[in-house]
Amino acid sequence: MSITLNPSGQAMPLVGFGLWKVPRESCADTVYNAIKTGYRLFDGAQDYGNEKEAGEGVRRAIADGLVKREELFITSKLWNTFHSKEHVLEMTKFSLDAWGLDYFDLWLIHFPIAQKYVPPSERYPPALLYDVEAGTMAFEDVPIAETWAEMEKAVELGLVKNIGISNFAGALIIDLLRYAKIPPAVLQIEHHPYLTQPQIVALTRQRGIAITAYSSFGPQSFLEMSHPVATKITTLLKTPLIEEIAAAHGKSSGQVLLRWATQRGIAVIPKSNSPHRLAENLNHVDFDLTEEELGKISGLDAQIRFNDPADWPGKIYIFA
Ligand SMILES: NC(=O)c1ccc[n+]([C@@H]2O[C@H](COP(=O)([O-])OP(=O)(O)OC[C@H]3O[C@@H](n4cnc5c(N)ncnc54)[C@H](OP(=O)(O)O)[C@@H]3O)[C@@H](O)[C@H]2O)c1
Repeated sequence: MSITLNPSGQAMPLVGFGLWKVPRESCADTVYNAIKTGYRLFDGAQDYGNEKEAGEGVRRAIADGLVKREELFITSKLWNTFHSKEHVLEMTKFSLDAWGLDYFDLWLIHFPIAQKYVPPSERYPPALLYDVEAGTMAFEDVPIAETWAEMEKAVELGLVKNIGISNFAGALIIDLLRYAKIPPAVLQIEHHPYLTQPQIVALTRQRGIAITAYSSFGPQSFLEMSHPVATKITTLLKTPLIEEIAAAHGKSSGQVLLRWATQRGIAVIPKSNSPHRLAENLNHVDFDLTEEELGKISGLDAQIRFNDPADWPGKIYIFA
């Protein structure tokens, strides 16, 4: 199952594998095993610190004849510190080298914020804080239009097949569409029943932009980071409504949460370090939820966003 991307016409698998928090030591084996299990899309980023190892897993799978490069769909993301016109193309090539690939299928702007450049020779990945000890976040004066023009050049140069955005709000998307020569193919956003974002889903649908949902299990991913809100609320996987629907279909809660998105044409990229859950997440599309069930799950919306780095509850940054 796939989504046809604009304007390239390329098919993007509806279910992929997310690479955030996949440890460097096990990443190559995890990616290899995921390909063996049937995954064809991998969602990486400069910020995840495992590009080289993910690329190793991909290249080993190709060398062993499990898959051909053109059957895979590799996504990666430009980090906030590389937004300026001097750095976008240079850092696109840097990441392709790290993966050992000739092109990315999808290249996203990770967040719509330009942060002060940190040379990769000094710190890579540079992460969110400029000065970790002081808790300082330092910005750079680079508008999105400048970054987007360089992303378009990456397509023209054949470094990437599709370009897109992540964590952009509606107003920014409307603005981007005014000047983009190549419109964004994909918007990747936090999307789960506690944060359904119907307006931005409708906006992107009307503009032919595909949506990829991240953190489909809601708070689950943030528990391991001791997120102060995630640790206080009922995990989505154990919510009575989700458990009841899962039991009615003979599926797991995780599969119900993923199906709630994919049945509505929204791609998902669950991450799991467990081979069992990794397989369970891929194989979740062989059943359909009823319209009533879809509606009830959407009714859990509480507008709880777990991933806003500039607004992490309980933390005050110094914005330089
Ligand atoms: N664009 C962005 O800014 C952004 C932000 C966040 C994430 N992402 C992307 O989206 C991907 C997915 O999001 P995410 O990493 O936040 O988390 P997620 O996939 O929603 O959740 C991962 C958590 O759920 C557990 N889990 C996985 N499958 C499960 C299942 N079937 N049943 C129960 N628990 C399960 C995992 O534990 P185990 O590993 O132990 O199974 C882990 O604790 C990321 O890896 C990344 O590629 C993008």
